[in-house]
Amino acid sequence: MAILEILKHPDPRLKQASQKVETFDKTLRSFIADLEETRRSGPAAVGIAAPQVGRFERIVIVDCSSARKPVPNHGHLVLINPVITQWDGFEVGREGCLSVPHHTGEVIRATRIHIEACGPEGESLAFDMEGYEARVVQHEIDHLDGKLFLDRVVSHHTDLFQRKVYKKSRPAAPARKPEEETRVA
Ligand code: NI
Repeated sequence: MAILEILKHPDPRLKQASQKVETFDKTLRSFIADLEETRRSGPAAVGIAAPQVGRFERIVIVDCSSARKPVPNHGHLVLINPVITQWDGFEVGREGCLSVPHHTGEVIRATRIHIEACGPEGESLAFDMEGYEARVVQHEIDHLDGKLFLDRVVSHHTDLFQRKVYKKSRPAAPARKPEEETRVA
């Protein structure tokens, strides 16, 4: 396994759309292992998408099971060729991103989604998601379409925030400022 380099904004490659995965083989699964190791090696990201490490295929990993406040979630998921087929409601929430290390932003996302995807063996998967997990999946699918949360922030004056501390892991101290609360994806 290997820790891969994360592309950072404003790298133009982050605007590139990713291709569907067609072949579910050992090479794919080996890449997924590297992507997972990369996700875990940084500042405790709840999600990562293949194009963030320069591989332009529709692969994301999400895991909201260790969110600070317990949230409804499906645990660790590898989602290949994920498609959102239903949306319901909307809400504003703070997002961060491994590719945008110095800022967080307020972003509007659907509250509930239904997604369809394949797993690493090519098996069909489907999930109903809500709240935080739904937000993370929407954020990661945006990466597959060459979009960052920065592209969805309504006002760069009022909705974008400088990140004061970029923590490598979850701190033990309970008191944290709001801008330090945001987990990256
Ligand atoms: Ni991101």
